[in-house]
Amino acid sequence: MIKIKNAWKRFGSLTVLAGMDLTIEEGETLVILGPSGIGKSVLLKHIIGLLKPDEGSIDIDGVMITDLDGAELLKAVHNMGMLFQGAALFDSMNVEENVAFYLHQHRDPHTRHKYPKAEIADHVAHALEVVGMQGTQKKMPSELSGGMRKRVGLARVIVYKPKIVLYDEPTTGLDPVIAMQINELIVKTKEELKATSIVVTHDMFCALYVGDRLALIRDGKIAHLADPDTFLKIEDPLIQLLYRTISQDPRKLKEKNHHG
Ligand SMILES: Nc1ncnc2c1ncn2[C@@H]1O[C@H](COP(=O)(O)OP(=O)(O)OP(=O)(O)O)[C@@H](O)[C@H]1O
Ligand SMILES: [Mg+2]
Repeated sequence: MIKIKNAWKRFGSLTVLAGMDLTIEEGETLVILGPSGIGKSVLLKHIIGLLKPDEGSIDIDGVMITDLDGAELLKAVHNMGMLFQGAALFDSMNVEENVAFYLHQHRDPHTRHKYPKAEIADHVAHALEVVGMQGTQKKMPSELSGGMRKRVGLARVIVYKPKIVLYDEPTTGLDPVIAMQINELIVKTKEELKATSIVVTHDMFCALYVGDRLALIRDGKIAHLADPDTFLKIEDPLIQLLYRTISQDPRKLKEKNHHG
């Protein structure tokens, strides 16, 4: 469980988090919506320990990460993975080296052992297959399209099977077929790893496809948080505008995909 309590974050005169309270339950997929520049990426970076709030606390599975630094902090966030908004691949490394990068530092959740060197190539190949990027091991990031880079970024996260996965705009800029594959992948990751997931998106189709609960950020706080049906009925102009951006309810499609 992730518990954010009264978190404040200012950059100079700009207040981005203004007393934010948010609890994310174990195993759920929480979708975070909100206009550009409101602080969604900043919030994710707080949860994974890249940023510290000026005030307030963040508790990850009983560990107060806001009290930790250095090696202790790294250990506490070890079981988390984040797909960054721009994929954030290492430009000097090929696809295989990128996807293997964090795997070297992690343990297999089943055997509790470090991944044997000989197996790493297999894990990388499998993760690339899952995101539809098989056979691209030797390509450099500069040779890939934006959507391909994003999928490699996703492979780099899912390959070490994190228990908490943060997705920053996972489907933005992808064609509808690939976006749908990513949505499926988010659902599959949650089910297979029993992962807790937080998905930041502007894509209402993605939000309803993957989300157990939906939240809207406004003025540095969570303005609304509810299950999808309740959320869609909230009389908030932004929510109604977002709802009108989709032509069919993704949840119907999901039922079809998952039950024949
Ligand atoms: N390290 C930083 N230093 C100073 N200002 C920052 C920093 N990181 C973010 N900001 C500012 O905080 C605000 C929120 O940024 P953030 O990236 O979280 O927005 P966002 O909601 O993710 O937007 P988008 O939907 O466009 O990705 C922005 O005004 C941004 O300029
Ligand atoms: Mg962002």
